[in-house]
Amino acid sequence: MNARAHANNRDHRASSPSTILVTGGAGFIGSHACVELLDHGYELIVVDNYSNSSPQVFARVQRIAGRFVGAVYELDIRDRRALSAVFDRHSVDAVVHFAALKAVGESTRMPVEYYDVNVGGTTSLLRAMHEHGVHRLVFSSSCSLYGDAGGGRLSEASPARPTNPYAASKWTCEQILADVCRRIPDFTALSLRYFNPVGAHPSGLLGEDPSGTPDNLMPYLAQVAVGRRARLPVFGDDYATPDGTPVRDYLHVMDTVEAHRVALDHFTDGPGMHVYNLGAGRGWSVLDVVAAFREACGKPIPYDIEPRRPGDVTELVADAAAVARAWGWRPTRDLAAMCQDAWRFQQLNPSGYAGPAGSKSAKE
Ligand code: UD1
Repeated sequence: MNARAHANNRDHRASSPSTILVTGGAGFIGSHACVELLDHGYELIVVDNYSNSSPQVFARVQRIAGRFVGAVYELDIRDRRALSAVFDRHSVDAVVHFAALKAVGESTRMPVEYYDVNVGGTTSLLRAMHEHGVHRLVFSSSCSLYGDAGGGRLSEASPARPTNPYAASKWTCEQILADVCRRIPDFTALSLRYFNPVGAHPSGLLGEDPSGTPDNLMPYLAQVAVGRRARLPVFGDDYATPDGTPVRDYLHVMDTVEAHRVALDHFTDGPGMHVYNLGAGRGWSVLDVVAAFREACGKPIPYDIEPRRPGDVTELVADAAAVARAWGWRPTRDLAAMCQDAWRFQQLNPSGYAGPAGSKSAKE
């Protein structure tokens, strides 16, 4: 174990952490989290392999937060040696772990890759953390582990029944974390089961900029609205929901990252594994989101009903009462704000981060 890091961990055990390692900090949620944590005075170390993101995001993070992310390393978290060297160099107090693959459909076609990156990446991180005496982790989990639960709000006590490798990889990570917390007495893992984080930073500088064809609904909608793609595929209208399209609990990315910042104040609640749903507690169908986006952008959104997407489930809506009770966190932004902010980002960045920062002159 690295002596400096060990001493640092001991010194900070009773207080909130101040130096945070953010894995996947260039990604959609990770980049917004960097802004939120910088705004609240944290020192950040970011690692990312840019598999679905770009280092250009950090200039934008700096522009919003008014200060630079302390250190950025391009590395794959499965590269144990490179990861260990980061822990050798910095006194990390806690880790916020976003780095993962996250597309449901893709995971059904590339299951081994999903287990390797999501589970293998997490165990590699845990090893580096443990070797350096860092025992505080905020983990990005997913509502998808509840599977086809058949409707109704899902609490953390609802059984896990993952229906695709992405969801199964998150559930496997949670089980590993629970066991690590049982075996290593001062290890604290806060697992946040996100429902569907969407939207963008209200500045229009940060948003979701997937490489290639978007896998998720909101960035696809935004690219149709801006004219980058012709029509939205709606995957199935024969589900047992009011309009036949699947229902999800959409959550603004700014609310999502605020929950992570609040989480950092709660390591001192006690060691062990703590699991919380992050959702709004309200469901919207795919066609509801299409209508809300049309309202936000003032343009029609052409769409085609296509066959169901493998791995999709009918309905996922959160019972998020536990996190409100424990931490006082509640989302404050509604679906209209999610669509308006996603649209602002897309309008200002029609080619994503490839164009100049926040400029309408960036054209396809
Ligand atoms: C999934 C995960 C969720 C995770 C998110 C990360 C499940 C059930 N949920 O969300 O935990 O946080 O990925 O990205 O595994 N849709 C279309 N057309 C499109 C794209 C999507 O109709 O072009 C539909 C999907 O069929 C789905 C809804 O829109 O019903 C939302 O899809 P998406 O945005 O991909 O998120 P989830 O798959 O729900």
